[in-house]
Amino acid sequence: MTRRGRQSHARLSGPASARLAAPCLALLLFAGVASTAACGRRAEADARGAIASAAPRVEARDVFAERCAPCHGAGGRGDGAAAAECNPRPPDLSDRQRQARLSDDDLRRLILRGGKATGRSNVMPPNEDLATHADQLAALVAKVRSLAAR
Ligand code: HEC
Repeated sequence: MTRRGRQSHARLSGPASARLAAPCLALLLFAGVASTAACGRRAEADARGAIASAAPRVEARDVFAERCAPCHGAGGRGDGAAAAECNPRPPDLSDRQRQARLSDDDLRRLILRGGKATGRSNVMPPNEDLATHADQLAALVAKVRSLAAR
């Protein structure tokens, strides 16, 4: 899994347009049916940077900044630039008790498959490209955990 994930970097670092077309289209369709389309579009405009090949921990920081912070805020407090337009509002990920209710498996599933697939609002988007990037996904889960480690 990990090895396959590494090999697919080459494919993922192809032309940005081709790489991003499918997820963006999915997100747009998604945003179209979401009650808070504006929040999704706004977050998407700031986000969807492709997976590069930096060290997973460094990369997870960038992925969080690009794909999560627009809604959840840089510190995870639910105060990102697009947060006000989201309904429901992005939850506060720096809340220890809230995070204690989520296992690492829950977090992985939620990040990969989005809110809708995990019984939550579809305002929380999926990140299916991370399925072939196990190291980055693990680092992103660790990044989310670090937000509540205060
Ligand atoms: C478009 C805005 C948006 C983006 C972008 C976004 N989220 Fe969310 N997220 C939400 C919303 C809204 C919820 C609440 C969904 C619900 O409870 O129905 C949520 C829920 C969550 C939860 C569940 C919290 C809980 O206690 O149930 C986690 C964890 C989370 N997001 C992490 C992330 C991570 C990590 C990223 C980036 C990979 C991300 N989110 C990107 C809007 C967003």
